[in-house]
Amino acid sequence: MTHRIYLDHNASTPIDPEVAAAMRPFLDDHYGNPSSGHWASTTAKVALEDARGKVASLLGCTSDEIVFTGGGSEANNLALKGAFFALRLTGDHIVTTRIEHPAIIEPCHFLERLGARVTYIPVDGTGRIDPDDVRKAITPRTILVSIMHANNEVGTVQPIDDCARIAQESGILFHTDAAQSVGKIATEVDRLGVDFLSIAGHKAYAPKGVGALYVRRNVSLEPLVHGAGHEGGRRAGTESALLAVGLGKACELARELAPMDRVRSLRDRFWQELQQQFGNRVVLNGHPTHRLPNTLNVSFVGLIGADILARLDGVAASTGSACHSGRIELSPVLEAMGVAPNVGMGAIRFSLGRATTPDDIDVVVRRLGDLLVSAA
Ligand SMILES: Cc1ncc(COP(=O)(O)O)c(C=O)c1O
Repeated sequence: MTHRIYLDHNASTPIDPEVAAAMRPFLDDHYGNPSSGHWASTTAKVALEDARGKVASLLGCTSDEIVFTGGGSEANNLALKGAFFALRLTGDHIVTTRIEHPAIIEPCHFLERLGARVTYIPVDGTGRIDPDDVRKAITPRTILVSIMHANNEVGTVQPIDDCARIAQESGILFHTDAAQSVGKIATEVDRLGVDFLSIAGHKAYAPKGVGALYVRRNVSLEPLVHGAGHEGGRRAGTESALLAVGLGKACELARELAPMDRVRSLRDRFWQELQQQFGNRVVLNGHPTHRLPNTLNVSFVGLIGADILARLDGVAASTGSACHSGRIELSPVLEAMGVAPNVGMGAIRFSLGRATTPDDIDVVVRRLGDLLVSAA
């Protein structure tokens, strides 16, 4: 049987067994509505608030600043549209970057159709923005700056604290999409200086379909879903204690960043071995140091990443981003970084996880070697 190797953790992670175990009783027994006032609701209500506390503790904020959502996309939509609708009498301008996930770019396009003006600031060849470009983009009409913490495709980490300080000096709200950074690097909201921060459960060993938005206290936000007053009036709908408990447990585990040291050294060894085998036929995409510890996006120059992956039977990895795969086009992120088409088309994103082994890496390096010798 083909040896199956999973190197696509930026697309989604497996559910951690401890997360699954924490959720189990909420599948079997605790079905009560957390908002009811009787015996069947008590366990669900307590668990929901305990989970909220765990998410808050990872982010270094208070429980009332956490809104559970249906994932990272919803958290991003809530931040962007919620801030725009709450502040539309004050201003109409949003600053973001050219390399955001579609869950930011598309809400921005939607808001542009409603009359918002959006500035998409550029990145350099490593995928990093210049905080000075944020300063230059701000106008008296700016209401929100949204810059992703770490990029899903190349892993480049942005200077969020510097950018957030610039926004704060002008009294402008700051959002960061931290879907990829939670559990990989530090994400405390006060250290970053942000007013909103999005997280996605399934990038951090919790299930799909759950996420959260951090909303700094006293920051007003128009809900996207109106209804009863769940989540402090910021997101109507009966909360799923089941999913919240999963996210809470995952966030508790994500506080421990030490496992990432092992992942980083495995990732670095992977890159060194590719360089040894392929020399200048392989190129690193992303920042050499300001990068997520698990992410290795490399281009096989002059080849097509999708073709290589198709022949790497049993190895799960991505070309471009898994969220919009199936397209043989230069990814918008690599394009924004100015990567030449003959380099960018050969890109493959390998994203390692807690369970990746040295043997997984050895197998992939060896198989790439076999494949590309026959392709040469
Ligand atoms: C940076 C980033 N933001 C947001 C999302 C969307 O999260 P979700 O799939 O939970 O909606 C993703 C998922 O690919 C992502 O990588």
